[in-house]
Order: sequence, then structure tokens, then C-alpha cells
Amino acid sequence: MSIMPQTLNKLRAKLDRDLVAAPFSSLPEYKSITYHQGLGKMLGIANPFFRSTEGPQGRHTLIDGKPVLNFAWCDYLGLSKHPDLINASKAAIDAYGTSVSASRMVSGDTPLHRELEQEIADTIGVEGALVFVSGHAANVSTIGTIMTADDLIIHDEFVHNSAVVGMRLSGAKTMTFRHNKLDLLEQVLREERAKYKNCLVVIEGLYSTEGDIPDLARVVELKERYGAWLMVDDAHGCGVLGNTGAGLAEHTGVPGNKVDIWMGTLSKAYASCGGYIAGNRELIDALRYSAPGFVFSVGLPPSMTAAALAALRVVKREPHRVARLHANGQLFLREAKARGLNTGRSIGIGMLPVMVGATTRAAKAVSKVLERGINTSLIMSPGVPVNAARLRFFLTCEFTPEEIKHALDVTKEVLGA
Ligand SMILES: Cc1ncc(COP(=O)(O)O)c(C=O)c1O
Repeated sequence: MSIMPQTLNKLRAKLDRDLVAAPFSSLPEYKSITYHQGLGKMLGIANPFFRSTEGPQGRHTLIDGKPVLNFAWCDYLGLSKHPDLINASKAAIDAYGTSVSASRMVSGDTPLHRELEQEIADTIGVEGALVFVSGHAANVSTIGTIMTADDLIIHDEFVHNSAVVGMRLSGAKTMTFRHNKLDLLEQVLREERAKYKNCLVVIEGLYSTEGDIPDLARVVELKERYGAWLMVDDAHGCGVLGNTGAGLAEHTGVPGNKVDIWMGTLSKAYASCGGYIAGNRELIDALRYSAPGFVFSVGLPPSMTAAALAALRVVKREPHRVARLHANGQLFLREAKARGLNTGRSIGIGMLPVMVGATTRAAKAVSKVLERGINTSLIMSPGVPVNAARLRFFLTCEFTPEEIKHALDVTKEVLGA
């Protein structure tokens, strides 16, 4: 049977039409942005995201030319302008230049990287550590490397996007348990663990939308009983939790080496950039030679490596920073309660939410407190459940009690609590 030339041409034309690249405006991501922007305009709510901070970063900064008290950044220990970090950073640029311009595996490795990794491992109490160019890359690459389609990952419903992306990449079966509900974690382990080769439990140290922590001792007991690995994302806990800021292990009294995989970021309390994985030598060696976000990516710049190293040392040498951060958190918690503001489950260390409920009400509140000089962040679905929107306050050790009380007075007035 032969096909008529006309029919062939029609088929070709159809194929050509189908092969036209779709405009990016047809992407669901783009449609969702325009929908939310339109809704915001209709309701008279200013875009709460991507506000440019014009002043020097700090608890006192400038937004739209106006001075604000900044509760929307994670410089928990006030280190980003510490002379030791600045001097170390400058000296590293003088010694090594602005970039290592290669993967660490090839020629991007410096003694500074090794020193930083040893300092991180010693702080946590484990054998080794590996530094990535971001915390996000550390999570994606690590989970994506060590877990496979034969494996099971069980995680708290509120773990960070970077862990979730790593899980997708790994191809492993994933299951969630309700936030901090360890009876539910145990139920999944009991019913599912034996069906898979390896099992990884993923939790966080200090949950960044809730401000609460897990019962680490119980999770360790469960993972040992059911033969699973435990990964703790301590991005908000490192430098913050524990009397010396060593993180969740110190805070809970659980030895660091009881956790198989520690993840942390260098961009929050340590006022630099990058992320780390810490654990035993075998884990670190496996990742050093095979985690794609490490092997096929540039090494952390010398300036950031030196800043992070200096930060870890300053935290040990100046313990008053962690103590003041903790005192500020407890003050915020007390004063918020005294004003009838709901701080949810926060333990009052480092970050605290003020619960609002409806997203539109929370978005309006973020704008209104900003008009009155208080910069907070809006936390809304899908980061938290629908109708559980909130204002998030990151604290630093540098806030004075008066500044904290003033921010709470403004928040109370705006929310009419
Ligand atoms: C819990 C958690 N994990 C991982 C990350 C990623 O860290 P980084 O900012 O270093 O990429 C963040 C950053 O916000 C975080 O909050």
C-alpha cells in the first residue's frame, strides 16, 4: 500500500505543528505566579517576596529607603560583620584569589577546605565532614547518591525542599509521618522496613517554619531497633541549639555519632555560604568520590571557606553570642504570650512564628508591620498547611529587649490580637 503525497504532506505539517516549542507562559509555574500576583493586586496586598534590602545587611537595614528592624534573615549570632570573619575572608582572597575555579577533586582543593571540614566534624563529634557549595546541593546530592530504587525513605512532613528533591532523584520509595509524631514513624518502620534493602529516616534539628525540635533520643532508638540510617538536617540548629551552639546533639544530650548523617548549612549562624555533610569516614569518602553536587561542581570559594572556619571558632570563643540568642528567644516567647500572640509549638530558640491562619490576612499583616518598620517573612502554603499562614521572626543575639518588645507591640496592633 502506498501513501498519497498529499496525505504525507498533511502528516508532516501536523508533526511540525506539534513540535513547536511551547511558550514559557504556558508553564504551570508561570501561571501560578501571575494568578497570585493578580489576586494580590485585587486584594491590595503588596508582593511580600524579593524586597530588595538596600542597607548594609544587619538587624538595622534599609528596605525601599526606609530603616527597618530585620527579623527576616538568619544571621543568628550576628557574625556577618564580625571582624574575624571579614579579616579571614580577605586574607583568603589574598592567598588563593576569589575562586578555586575547579572541582575540589581536580584542582580546587585547598588546606582551608580540609581545616573547615575537620572543625565541623570536631564540633559535632563525628569522624569527618564534606563541604558543598550550598546546603541545598548537599541534601540533594547526598540523598540522591546513597539511596536507590530498592530503598525506603521515611521523613517528617516538614523537611526542607532540598531533602525532598534528593529523595525524588534517588528513586527510592518515600513515606511521610506527621510532624514530630514518632509513634507514626515507628508504625511505618514496623510495617514497611523489612520490604526494602536500606532505609533512611530524615528529620530536621530545628524546624524552620515551626521553631520546634524532634525527640532525637527516641528517633535514634527507633532507627537502631529497625535497622535504618538517620539523617538530621541541622541547617537551623547548627550554631544555634545547645549551650555552645554545637546543634541538636548537644541540645538533646545525644552523642553526635549516634546520628548517621548530619547535614548543616554555613549560610545561617555561620554567616558564610555552603553546606556540609558530616558522619563517619566511610560515608564521607563515598560522597567525596561520587556525590554529583560535589564531584561535578566547583569547590567553595576561599573567602567563604575562611569565613565559615572563623565563624566556627568565634562561636566557641565567644559563648555569650549563643547565650544571648537563647535569652532573646525566651524573652520573645514570654512577651508574645503576654500579648496574646500565638507562637505555636516554638521552643523559643532562634526563630519563632506568630500564627495568623488565612494567607491573605497574614500577607496583609507582613505588609503592615513592614510599613511600621518591622521586616518579617510570610510563611504560607505549600510551606505549611493551608490556613496555617504565619509571620516568621528570625532572631539574632544582637536584638535588644526593647527592639523585641517593640516588634511584638506593632505585631499585636496590626493583628488586633
Ligand atoms: C532546613 C534547611 N535545609 C537546607 C537548606 C538549604 O541550605 P542553603 O541555604 O545553604 O542552600 C535550608 C535553607 O534555607 C534550610 O532551611
